[in-house]
Amino acid sequence: MATNHLLADFMHFCQQRVTHALNKVLPDADTSPSRLHAAMRYATLNGGKRIRPILVYASGEAAEVTNENLDAAACAVELIHAYSLVHDDLPAMDDDDLRRNQPTCHKAYDEATAILVGDALQTLALQVLCTGNHLDVPAETRLNMLETLTRAAGSRGMVGGQAMDLAAVGQTLNLTELENLHIHKTGALIRASVKLGTLLNPQLEKTRRQALDHYAKCIGLAFQIQDDILDIEGSTQTLGKTQGKDRQQNKPTYPSLLGLNGAKEKAEELRQAAQDSLTQFDSKADPLRWIADYITLRSY
Ligand code: IPE
Ligand code: IPE
Ligand code: MG
Ligand code: MG
Ligand code: MG
Repeated sequence: MATNHLLADFMHFCQQRVTHALNKVLPDADTSPSRLHAAMRYATLNGGKRIRPILVYASGEAAEVTNENLDAAACAVELIHAYSLVHDDLPAMDDDDLRRNQPTCHKAYDEATAILVGDALQTLALQVLCTGNHLDVPAETRLNMLETLTRAAGSRGMVGGQAMDLAAVGQTLNLTELENLHIHKTGALIRASVKLGTLLNPQLEKTRRQALDHYAKCIGLAFQIQDDILDIEGSTQTLGKTQGKDRQQNKPTYPSLLGLNGAKEKAEELRQAAQDSLTQFDSKADPLRWIADYITLRSY
């Protein structure tokens, strides 16, 4: 229980911090073109768990990086994530009407605006890493961060995963194929979130860097498995998105392949593997430990 309170406080602190930073980097809603800017703010400042920024701050804490130096990376990963959700919800993709308990961006605005919102959020993410105000690091570190984020977001990462997801509709994938899909569409950005936190301390020992990367791989896959489980077990109201869409759209998921219990066992294995990879860290990695538990225990 004590851990739950500590996690809740940590998450709340990070959520406030990144929302404040996002508010500053997003153009004002009355700046022209105002409809686009209003829609960008709508899609980004409308809640969300902020798990990727939380991971940036948590891995930064384990790697002894100051929060001031983590804000740009936290904003950048959330901007990429927000863009990915706007596009994921479009009629040409998952065709969803509800996101974070509000009409999806294309429903609240229109499809063309939603496409442009995604485009603009993505480029804003890169701009933030290039010019981030309080980011006090050498240009080489910025370049490493840009490389990490662009690789994770692109066709060999998240966008590639989204392409695999669409191609897999109605198909029966085997476990290796499904794992590959999930690692790309969701795992890549989660892995990048942890890596961005550690890149900001170039002195971090290699074994620690590798351990954190292994941690991130495990929780990235576990996160999408839990998302698949919640699509079955959650409720539309708690999830803030329409429950049951995966089955309705014939998406291959962990529960569809392994059954609900099999999917839960796999998530639990990954949770344990993530915890095991943190043994060389002291209490500075506790937020990462709480997050690994949270990812498989969460109900939304
Ligand atoms: C939903 O992500 C899409 C996936 C990659 C599973 P989140 O569950 O992190 O969504 P928000 O940001 O909290 O709304
Ligand atoms: C979305 O996966 C992954 C990305 C947006 C990259 P899902 O399609 O399962 O996410 P939800 O369930 O709509 O949030
Ligand atoms: Mg999808
Ligand atoms: Mg979707
Ligand atoms: Mg889903």
